[in-house]
Amino acid sequence: MDRLSIALILALAAASVSAAARPKCVLTGFWINDLGSNMTINSVNKKGEFSGLYHTAVSATKDEIKVSPLQGSQHRKNEQNQPTFGFTVNWSFSDSTTVFTGQCFVDEDGKEILRTTWLLRQEVDKLKDDWKATSIGSDVFTRFQ
Ligand SMILES: *[C@@H]1O[C@H](CO)[C@@H](O)[C@H](O)[C@H]1NC(C)=O
Ligand SMILES: *[C@@H]1O[C@H](CO)[C@@H](O)[C@H](O)[C@H]1NC(C)=O
Repeated sequence: MDRLSIALILALAAASVSAAARPKCVLTGFWINDLGSNMTINSVNKKGEFSGLYHTAVSATKDEIKVSPLQGSQHRKNEQNQPTFGFTVNWSFSDSTTVFTGQCFVDEDGKEILRTTWLLRQEVDKLKDDWKATSIGSDVFTRFQ
């Protein structure tokens, strides 16, 4: 065998090992985002349901921030390594509700990362104010070490 074929075989072997050994992104644990908000996600059950607690660093209201419960579900089809998920935060210190949707990835360094998009619904007094009641944003979470 010449050098090129050996190099090719080694490269292919490395690629198949890294695909097989690609770690799974697991939602359970303690996560922190770019703003300093953090959340604890409890164990995900067989159906993909989970609960947790969200501690936001930022708020649209002036009320004192309190830890708030979250309820979500993770996609379980084929036991994906990088599952999609969604959860709702029931803010305990305001009348607002936030929904997050995202995907749990493992980056090239083997680090887990949650890429999410959220919608925040604030309560408004009148139907006329409905147009300004919803905000959208995105957050990136990494596992807190
Ligand atoms: C979690 O977030 C809250 C709100 O920003 C902050 O007060 C608290 O220190 C954070 N906890 C950790 C461990 O970073
Ligand atoms: C939602 O928040 C309210 C107010 O804090 C609380 O009474 C209720 O139990 C919460 N519901 C869930 C599903 O966490």
